[in-house]
Amino acid sequence: MTEKHFKRTLVTAALPYANGGVHIGHLAGVYVPADIYARYLRLRGREVLFVCGSDEHGVPITIRARKEGITPQDVVDRYHKMIKDSFAEFGISFDIYSRTTSKTHAQTATEFFRKLYDKGEFIEQESEQYYDEETKTFLADRYITGECPHCHNEGAYGDQCEKCGTSLSPTELINPKSAISGATPVLRKTKHWYLPLDKHQPWLEEWILKGHPEWRSNVYGQCKSWFEMGLQPRAVSRDLDWGIPVPVEGAEGKVMYVWFDAPIGYISNTRELLPDTWETWWKSDDTRLIHFIGKDNIVFHCIVFPAMLKAEGSYILPDNVPSNEFLNLEDEKISTSRNWAVWLHEYLQDLPGKQDVLRYVLTANAPETKDNNFTWKDFQARNNNELVAVYGNFVNRALVLTQKYFDGKVPSCGELTDADRQTIAEFQGVKADVERLIEKFRFRDALKEAMNLARIGNKYLADSEPWKVWKTDPDRVATILNIALQLVANLAIAFEPFLPMSSKRLREMICLGDANWERLGATDLLADGHQLGKPELLFDKIEDSVVEAQINKLEEIKKANAAAQAKAAPVAAPIEFEQWEKLDIRVGTVLECEKVPKADKLLRFLIDDGLERRTIVSGIAKYYAPEELVGKQVCFLANLPARKLRGIESQGMILSAEDLDGSLCVITPQKQVKPGSQVK
Ligand code: 2FM
Ligand code: ZN
Repeated sequence: MTEKHFKRTLVTAALPYANGGVHIGHLAGVYVPADIYARYLRLRGREVLFVCGSDEHGVPITIRARKEGITPQDVVDRYHKMIKDSFAEFGISFDIYSRTTSKTHAQTATEFFRKLYDKGEFIEQESEQYYDEETKTFLADRYITGECPHCHNEGAYGDQCEKCGTSLSPTELINPKSAISGATPVLRKTKHWYLPLDKHQPWLEEWILKGHPEWRSNVYGQCKSWFEMGLQPRAVSRDLDWGIPVPVEGAEGKVMYVWFDAPIGYISNTRELLPDTWETWWKSDDTRLIHFIGKDNIVFHCIVFPAMLKAEGSYILPDNVPSNEFLNLEDEKISTSRNWAVWLHEYLQDLPGKQDVLRYVLTANAPETKDNNFTWKDFQARNNNELVAVYGNFVNRALVLTQKYFDGKVPSCGELTDADRQTIAEFQGVKADVERLIEKFRFRDALKEAMNLARIGNKYLADSEPWKVWKTDPDRVATILNIALQLVANLAIAFEPFLPMSSKRLREMICLGDANWERLGATDLLADGHQLGKPELLFDKIEDSVVEAQINKLEEIKKANAAAQAKAAPVAAPIEFEQWEKLDIRVGTVLECEKVPKADKLLRFLIDDGLERRTIVSGIAKYYAPEELVGKQVCFLANLPARKLRGIESQGMILSAEDLDGSLCVITPQKQVKPGSQVK
């Protein structure tokens, strides 16, 4: 079906698990592109609905709840709010952001399951699964730990060994244990419902491989390889006490598998928003359904959910599933468990008001065709060299010059020169380019085109030099600035899907009103004599200290991770007892302590050693403020020959413990002793 047959577009963004916050990887992979698309369609006056919500079921949520001693509902309440707030702060313009613990969702998922059951679309099958006799529960794969049969790591999980990365099934574990009670689990028979994907394979293959060659190659390729391996029946129920109960006889204690109920969340949330008309969005052929997802969700959105929809019988199928690859952070894979991420709630605290900058950088660097990398240096460079120096600078120059020469009123356009005509033609071409690219989900290139408008503007002002012409030909300056101001107004529209907050500010600054996308390219967006507002800077430079603080934060995380993994060093080779006796270790009281000038690491101590005062220089400046050590007692090696450090004679060595993360802390006696006491 070609685009014009569609009346409306339903845009969905993957439902994030309410099990943690949202980070830049989520934003770049799913939510910013989905938002650009939804905003673009709205701006074009198309009928569009943008639906999302929290994915609140699944085993990891129960694991977190158990760890924290709270209920799964407490966990999802906390994170649902946090995630919803972060999205709102970043201008993700959902029409609804609901949750899979809502009543409407339980009802919709229950009806859906029941219909498939009644139509005979499931197969029922018994299998043997691990059961914890102490807690009387079947154990989800993640709840079983044991020894990995491949690398012999003793902490492997029933679904994967995180040490060697091998996927496992729980019965492969050596010496399995229940993670809940520690008991050895036993195998027990249990019944589950399966969606026979093998039965659906022929039409799925035809639909995707023949019908949708235009899908992104990563999506198309992944589907193709699933087909080549041959689809297998997938269980859609679990033995768990957190989720939506399986609504059939004999299913007590069983809930729907989270990946069965989650995509139905798109439907439930539409239904919650539009209780009377939701079916138009899901059951009419003239609705176009677009799922924005990350690459780890491809199989569920291209194969499993379509099979569910088809089996139900009354729903449309997705028209496209634009899936991004992953975003790395400073050359390493983003990892929630290692806290290797830039969390949105922290970004908002550290860089308030800079949401559009992040949207810009994540789009300019979007992992559309391959994994990409986010670095703080690139973030700073893109802000300073592109947003500030190109976009912000052009807007500011045009507005300030108009203020200066025409009291902030739009001057009239006179006769056009060839250069004017060429500039106008160039910027008029941008509209079609941005449209073509956005409609192909190539947001990164579309943003480049929008930025081109600002580059055209900068070049135009630099070439036509109104500040030089003013003295001799003010009418010519009027024409130049009229064209420049029309370009500024065009920028406000072109950037709206990408940087909504900055566009809003710019619209207000030039009092543009609500000119929509169709006006992009127009040269009469601002009428002659139109009064502009006060020029303000659209973007600010980001200083080195700001990104350095972020880089340091990541370094600290790296150290903490290394420390968490570190083991104590092996014990050194034996020494003779006499060698130990030769060491004269004593306690001294710190009388003075100060930083050694021009030496980051060194502190100079003056110590009362019970006999006299001695100076010792020690490399622990990074870990203490000098004043906090004054008056404290420290242990030092007293019979070390004196040596000069930065010109200061150091008479001994202060003893410190080096933690496994490499940080140092001084050794002090557990209670006050007389200075000069020996350490035995
Ligand atoms: O991968 C995830 O984060 C899942 N919570 C996505 C679910 S998308 C949809 F199916 F709900
Ligand atoms: Zn292993």
